[in-house]
Formats: sequence, structure tokens, C-alpha cells
Amino acid sequence: MNFFLIKQGIRYFFTSRHARGHGIHSPFVYSLIRSVFIETQKYTEYAAIEQHRKLLQKNTQYIEVTDFGAGSQQLQSTHRMIGKIAQTSLSPKKYAQLLFRMCRYFKPQNVLEIGTSLGISGAYMAAGYAKANIVTLEGSQNIADIAQNTFQTCRLSNITIRVGNFSDTLLPALQELRHIDMAFIDGNHTKEATLNYFEQLYPYCNADSILIFDDIYWSADMHDAWKTICNDPRVSLSIDLFKLGIVFFRTGVAKQNFRVRF
Ligand SMILES: C[S@@+](CC[C@H](N)C(=O)[O-])C[C@H]1O[C@@H](n2cnc3c(N)ncnc32)[C@H](O)[C@@H]1O
Repeated sequence: MNFFLIKQGIRYFFTSRHARGHGIHSPFVYSLIRSVFIETQKYTEYAAIEQHRKLLQKNTQYIEVTDFGAGSQQLQSTHRMIGKIAQTSLSPKKYAQLLFRMCRYFKPQNVLEIGTSLGISGAYMAAGYAKANIVTLEGSQNIADIAQNTFQTCRLSNITIRVGNFSDTLLPALQELRHIDMAFIDGNHTKEATLNYFEQLYPYCNADSILIFDDIYWSADMHDAWKTICNDPRVSLSIDLFKLGIVFFRTGVAKQNFRVRF
């Protein structure tokens, strides 16, 4: 049981607000909440991806995985059942669908995902904006093969996987993309790695870029990384949704951190 997460979850529950945007003075954040966070339309793309997720969750086949990251809190062995990976490692529907709407709203041309797993969050982002060019990074070849199948099954051709340790694949991916409009950082959940990814991504960002960090309350270490990023003078706006932390570099706005109940 993750006591840090539970304790922080209770604290977040009592300190977060603005679920519907009321009381937010930033027009940008207000619009984001109203048009993206609380938007409830059932997009047709959701059904196909969730149907595929269900199939993955029921898959009893075992694969050998290479674990480069902080590892899974639930899965210790490198010999893992696909169904178990699907049940424990993928972005829940609510957050994956938020990524879809973020892509739909912001229309990012170049998107980078650090941590593909079975391809569910990547599929949502690719479906959210078909014109986006998405590169997603995964260390384990067997996992990447399944993600590739996810993208094919969901008929998504705007996302490509690079396989290898992030320490080898991140820089070439950034050089290939040249600039990042949106990035989803969802792998190797340690403070050191997270701050490292932030520093590596920053030179490829501009005032309109958006960085989305997953599991910012996963551990005290990850939460420290999130707080460091929020306090960084280069970051102008940060939004804490508990599971996800979203960072903006917009200019001409007063530095602010919002804790929005999602
Ligand atoms: C939490 S999962 C990603 C989930 C996915 N974004 C989703 O929501 O559908 C993180 C993935 O990153 C990979 N990973 C972690 N650390 C890595 C590293 N240092 N290099 C390459 N891959 C890594 C793991 O193999 C795992 O599949």
C-alpha cells in the first residue's frame, strides 16, 4: 500500500478547488478547465481504444520485459502477464481521455511521450489530433510490439515508437522533432530522472509548449521533483490535477500554481 499517495490524496481532496473554473482569474486556465478538463462529450474514438484496453486486460499471455525505470510498485518480476501490465501500468480512462482532449484543444504539431507501455495513452493522444506527429519512447521491445499492435488496431498512423533506454533514445527523438509542442512524461518515476527529463526537454520548448508529468504524488521523491519544477522560474503556470501535473511556459502572465480538483 502506498501510504504517501493516500496521505497526499486526502490532503489534495481538502485543498484542491476550482473544479468548474469558478474563482480562476486567468482566462487561459479558465478556458482550459471549461473546454477541456470538465468537457464530457463521448468522442467516438474513446470506444475503440477502451475496447482494445479491455482485450489487453484479459490477455493471459506472459512476456519478458526489460525494466529500466523505477519499476512497477505492483509487478516485481520481469516475466509479466500482459493483462497485469494493462491493469496496473496504463493511464486510467479519465486521464487518458484528458490527454485526448488536450491534443484536440491545443492541436500540438510535435508530441513526445516518454513511456509508451502498451500504447493506450499514446493512442488517445494520436486520436486526439490526427495531424500531430507523435514519437513515443519505450525500453522494452516486447512491450513496444504490443503498443505497435494497439496503434494498428486503432488505425493510428501518426505515432511512432522508438525502442531503447530513454538515456539513449530521448536526445535523438528531440533532435528529430526539433521542437516540442506537448510532451507526456510517464516513465522512470524518480526525482532525478524527472528533473533530468525536464532539463533535456526545455531547450526544445517554446512559450506555447506544454509538459505533462504523470504520477506527481507517486512517491515523496516524485512530489519533490514536481515542486521543484513548479518553482522553476522558467515555468509560468502549473496545474496540479493530483495524478497529472501540467506545466506551461507562457509569457506575460504572473507565475501561478493551480491545484484543480479533477
Ligand atoms: C507507466 S508506463 C507508461 C504508460 C503509458 N504512458 C500509458 O499510460 O498507457 C512506463 C513505461 O516506461 C518504460 N520505461 C521506464 N523507464 C524506462 C527507461 N529508462 N527507458 C526506457 N523505457 C522505460 C517502461 O517499460 C514502461 O512500459
